[in-house]
Amino acid sequence: MSITEELKATAKAMVAEGKGILAADESFGTANKRFQKLGIPQTEEMRRAYREMLFTSTGMNKFISGVILFDETIRQSTKEGVPFTKVLLKAGIIPGIKLDAGAKPLAGAPQELITEGLDGLRERIAEYYNMGARFAKWRAVITIGEKIPSKLCLQANADALARYAALCIEGGLVPIVEPEVLMDGNQTIAQSLEVHQETLHTVFERLYLYRVPFEQMILKPSMVISGTDCAEQASVEDVAQLTVKCLLDCVPSSVPGCVFLSGGQSDQLATAHLNAMNVIFKGKLPWTLSFSYGRALQQAAMQTWLGKDANVTAAQKAFSMRAQLNSAAALGQYSSEMEKIASNN
Ligand code: G3H
Repeated sequence: MSITEELKATAKAMVAEGKGILAADESFGTANKRFQKLGIPQTEEMRRAYREMLFTSTGMNKFISGVILFDETIRQSTKEGVPFTKVLLKAGIIPGIKLDAGAKPLAGAPQELITEGLDGLRERIAEYYNMGARFAKWRAVITIGEKIPSKLCLQANADALARYAALCIEGGLVPIVEPEVLMDGNQTIAQSLEVHQETLHTVFERLYLYRVPFEQMILKPSMVISGTDCAEQASVEDVAQLTVKCLLDCVPSSVPGCVFLSGGQSDQLATAHLNAMNVIFKGKLPWTLSFSYGRALQQAAMQTWLGKDANVTAAQKAFSMRAQLNSAAALGQYSSEMEKIASNN
């Protein structure tokens, strides 16, 4: 298979019917912060044991097409010494890798962030490809506030995303392009829509300029949603309508799929929003709409695990349940009743 054919096939497989992506690529800082909150020791071994718990959950491959790993994780193995990449590949799950080095203050626009990690990226991509990764992720962060996002922030981040994506294509990894518009703030859903539209237009204009073939990439967008401090919280139906309107306005139809981040939404809301989009727009969309959640897939499992071997089976059950419910949402077959049934099982 040519590299182009392989990239197209991988991108399609990542958004296979009823499947989504597990984002398990928390950096040291993020993983440790979440562990600390729950009193879990913040060590390399605990991070390894936690990821082993997730990756060895039975039946995960029915709902999950790929897993995004962090640099530390892609080099780790199970207790028995089987590399995580092998565990995933054996289960028919595609290993992916986080390539960005995090968001830092943007010089000239100190309230805003720019994602770093382009230096030496070609060589890192080659190394990860040889380790078994077949897709990658790069997250740009867009903040809504007084007179922001600025054009500078949108263009600088879109440039970085496009350069990353072009390097991924060259090196054989499907790029997940993730421009996250943060939910923080008191913006209305209408203001969120405006910022999402400008962000996505800027990103796709740059992807085109950098000659990124749209059918070989995946978009990971945030949902168009009311800010967390906004007095009026939009309904599930409004979030679904405006999110899809925005994507229809901005995302070329040759992109195989959009996989949402959860961005701090509760588990149930993230599932309900995805489901509503797939119910309302069934049969009317050019791309697949699915999930690539971090927190909304892992929260319940981490709170059950708490770093204890004795809790592994229960934590795996909690994880599989969220994966199954999100798989149903990707098919437009979820209902809140299923939450009760699943938690009673
Ligand atoms: O970059 C963000 C993660 O891949 C998705 O995490 O679902 O917790 O927002 P989240």
